[in-house]
This record gives sequence, structure tokens and C-alpha cells, in this order.
Amino acid sequence: MTAPDIQSRKDGEKICCMTAYDYSSGMIADAAGMDLVLVGDSLGMVVLGHEDTLSVTMDEMIHHVRATSRGVKRALLVADMPFMSYSTVEMALENGGRFLSEGRAKAVKLEGGENVVPQIEALVAAGIPVMAHIGLTPQHVARFGGFKAQGKTLEAAKALVEDARAVEAAGAFCVVLEAIPVEVAELITKAVDIPTIGIGAGNVTDGQILVYHDVLGLFDRFTPKFVRTYVQHGKEAVQALEMYGKDVRSTRFPGDKNTFYLSDEMAEQVRK
Ligand code: KIV
Ligand code: NA
Repeated sequence: MTAPDIQSRKDGEKICCMTAYDYSSGMIADAAGMDLVLVGDSLGMVVLGHEDTLSVTMDEMIHHVRATSRGVKRALLVADMPFMSYSTVEMALENGGRFLSEGRAKAVKLEGGENVVPQIEALVAAGIPVMAHIGLTPQHVARFGGFKAQGKTLEAAKALVEDARAVEAAGAFCVVLEAIPVEVAELITKAVDIPTIGIGAGNVTDGQILVYHDVLGLFDRFTPKFVRTYVQHGKEAVQALEMYGKDVRSTRFPGDKNTFYLSDEMAEQVRK
């Protein structure tokens, strides 16, 4: 999948997106037929255990993007630009460039609307496809005063439509809409010709994205209302390791099948 492939799916088949953070999660998301895999800065929370995404660094992101790239064969691999890594056009170009050259990503994502138009234009001009992200932009959590739904007043809804139009005009190939009312998501989806990818934006967007750890029940802190958890992997993993612990303590593990043996002849010599 390429950025133009994703862009051409406007009003077509829904675009399935998932986050991933390393070789195995990337491989699993790709095997499941995801169209787009995002190495999200959500890794700060679900992989590194931080309270929010603000402390994630470029070097940490590159490390995870490289690992994920080895597992993703078909899906479009997108790298999330961390907090303050695109404050200026120069920084956006330097860090966006690193994601493609060192990280082997095929596109980048950054948070913002009208305020990041110069960065989007410069990245696209340099050959770096950009996925935009508006609504609840977690890098602005301090300003929002928490992870709260956005676009709930007429004024805020209009501003979001303007943001979507701005990132489209700047050259973004798609835009994430996070935690906004479905009516506003519908308005935005109709207002732009690039695909909208929803997370907590209802069933009206051109695609959906969720966080891998939320879908698989691997995150222990909280699960937003917009998540559907398909399997409780975290609980299953604890149960599996408990069984292992029991087997070790009772010497039922390792068994014959897990054990290396010498040939009979050698074993005899060793015993002598
Ligand atoms: O970091 C992330 O996982 C994201 C997606 C939820 C869009 O930004
Ligand atoms: Na993110």
C-alpha cells in the first residue's frame, strides 16, 4: 500500500488501520490485512508506561519504527512525529526525513490543523507523505486539561472543519479525527476529498484506527469508550505464565520433549 493507494480509497472500501510498535505486532497487523500500520507515539503509554505521550523522543520512535518495518510487508507504514519534533519547518523536515531514511517508514503523521500547514507543505514538497490528526490531539493534553472529546460547540466544530480543509490544501493524504461527535465527523468527511480515519469519531469516516494494545486487552490502565476490545490477551498471558510458574515449582517443566539427551553410548561414558 502507498499513500496514494490510501488517498484513492475516499468513499470506497473502508480503510482499516492499526497501531503497532515492534516486529511482532507489525507482523500480526500486516497478516490481519490492515491497510495502514501506524507506529503511534501512544507507545509512550502502552509500551513504555508513561502517563501521556509527551516524553516520547525521536530516538525512541526511530527504534520502534525500524523494528516495526521488519514485520510490515503490505500495509502502509506511518511514523508518528513525537511532541516538539515538528515545532518548526526545519525540525519537521529533519525528523520526518529520519523516519523515512533511518526508520524505513513510508509516511509520517503529525498533530494539528491550520497551525501546522507550513510543516505539512514542506514535508510533502520534500517527498514525505503526511497523515494529519485533528480533534483530540493527545500532545495538547495539557492545554485541553485531560483526554477529553473535542468539537462539542458550534464554534469548535467549525474550527475542526477549517482545520481539515487546511491540512487537505497543504497536501496531507488523509486525516485522523480523534474523539469528536459523529455529526462533526460526518461534516468533515463530506467537506474534504481526502479520507478521514476515525478513532472515536463514529461510523461515518472513510476508515478506522485503534491502538493495538486496546484491541487485544493488553493495556491495564483505562480503555476509552471508543475502543472495542476483541480479546483479553493481558489476562490470558497472566494465566499462561501462572501455569508455567506452577509447572516449574512442581518440576512438571521442563518435560522429556523439552530436554536434550546424549546418545545412549555417550550417556554411558559420562556416567562412568
Ligand atoms: O499514537 C497513536 O496511537 C495515534 C493514533 C491513536 C491515531 O495517534
Ligand atoms: Na499519536
